[in-house]
Amino acid sequence: MNLNFNIYDSDNESAGYAAAIEEQARPTTSEEGGVHEIPEQQMFYKMLAQDCNRILEIGFNTGSSAKIFLESSPHAKVVSFDLGNHDYIDSYKKEIDKEHPGRHTLIVGDSARTISDYRDANPGEIFDLILIDGAHDYGAVKIDFLNCKSLADEKTVVILDDVTIFPALTESFRYLAGPTRVWTEALIAKEIIHLPLAGEQYVSLGRGMACFHYKF
Ligand SMILES: C[S@@+](CC[C@H](N)C(=O)[O-])C[C@H]1O[C@@H](n2cnc3c(N)ncnc32)[C@H](O)[C@@H]1O
Repeated sequence: MNLNFNIYDSDNESAGYAAAIEEQARPTTSEEGGVHEIPEQQMFYKMLAQDCNRILEIGFNTGSSAKIFLESSPHAKVVSFDLGNHDYIDSYKKEIDKEHPGRHTLIVGDSARTISDYRDANPGEIFDLILIDGAHDYGAVKIDFLNCKSLADEKTVVILDDVTIFPALTESFRYLAGPTRVWTEALIAKEIIHLPLAGEQYVSLGRGMACFHYKF
């Protein structure tokens, strides 16, 4: 797949960053962020989910990414892992089940443990698409990155959310720092094959994503 569209506009970089920082500081809702805030990223998710049969995501939150996956690939089963620390998670899970009965599983708990437990309970199961978008600190992302490999093969497309190729951005947008470091280390160690979607450059201001295959 070679989809190079670049939304990055260097002429507006400084003004854009300032606006984004101001936007971040503004109180919005108590809900955590997700792909529902970023139309450009929704487009990436839709494309990547097409023709997938089995999709795994770490980070269900309000179910926005799970919903996109279920809608984009009508035959896909989606398994979401989430800490379950938000009290709104139940109502979003019910909504998904109503719209897509029998196609979605939510596993609640710390993904550092639940991914390994799932693998042990489902030996040999492989996913076509994996989204890593749970805890964002470096150690947790690294564990998710390593554990998800056991549920992937060489064809699995992995999305690591909140990655940027602009190091300065990690100062203002702290949630980018952990995923970006995990991705950079994996590239340097040649543990992954980068898929050039240009998403890691920019899907929206302060938001990026990287796509790759694991190397086996
Ligand atoms: C950024 S949100 C996910 C957004 C979602 N992928 C979307 O685009 O709609 C991150 C989610 O990961 C969950 N989370 C945080 N730490 C986690 C952990 N250790 N294990 C599993 N889920 C975790 C949070 O509770 C939150 O619901």
